[in-house]
Amino acid sequence: MDFESDGFRAFASSRRSTRDFLSTPVPDEIIEEIIADGLTSPSWSNTRPIRVAVAKGDVRDRLSEEFLIRWEAIKGARTGWLGKIKAVLKRKGLPTSNWIITRPYHKDFLERTQNQGRDFYSHIGVDRDDDKARNESWARNYDFFGAPVELFVFTHKSLGKYSASDAGLFMQNLILSAHSKGLGTCPQGAVAVWEDAVRKEFDISKNYSLLCGICLGYPSGEKINSFEANRPEPSEIILPERR
Ligand SMILES: Cc1cc2nc3c(=O)[nH]c(=O)nc-3n(C[C@H](O)[C@H](O)[C@H](O)COP(=O)(O)O)c2cc1C
Repeated sequence: MDFESDGFRAFASSRRSTRDFLSTPVPDEIIEEIIADGLTSPSWSNTRPIRVAVAKGDVRDRLSEEFLIRWEAIKGARTGWLGKIKAVLKRKGLPTSNWIITRPYHKDFLERTQNQGRDFYSHIGVDRDDDKARNESWARNYDFFGAPVELFVFTHKSLGKYSASDAGLFMQNLILSAHSKGLGTCPQGAVAVWEDAVRKEFDISKNYSLLCGICLGYPSGEKINSFEANRPEPSEIILPERR
């Protein structure tokens, strides 16, 4: 096989998360092809401990509607105590799964997440202190950023982090396959908090739990899609030797 030495770097680095989509549908054959490409990834003892729910058409629209209703009920909880109390009283909208994403970041990640927030909101022209605008921006997660397809990735509970690792490897191959076909994607932890709603639409064994969603579709020309998140240098993650 003859791969250009920098071909992979150029291709992989040109992928960015897409956060605004055209309504153009994605043909079923393409969805199946990118899932097949996802499955070229390695897997723990080849167990393939992942399942994918493909939400499109009416199912996609019903889930988006339900998520937006729940988000509307809970949105104040991101920004203040009053909102948190209201959310608890209302109940509707409280996460039913994956509470981890509602917790504050560990101090090890504060600098990176704060920089990401600053750069992202400044790119889309939202003032960091403008809670309303930030909430509106976050709410777009629940319309899947306008994407016609949302993939919900489930992992088998018995293999713990190795299921998540398999899912990550699968997702990245799928995401790069989509990229090679001119499709955009964005992994979405935001949609993992209401697993019960997804379970109402699909037949899913209780041995699996929802890891995250991935929205899929053709990118629009909106400015948000030209955001370039910071990428660390290898030296930032390579561990020093003890001596
Ligand atoms: C598991 C996972 C969950 C994510 N959840 C969200 C999300 O809920 N909403 C969102 O806008 N981006 C989400 N992202 C996208 C990241 O913010 C993005 O990958 C990161 O900022 C790097 O940018 P890039 O993908 O453009 O390289 C998620 C990424 C991963 C891997």
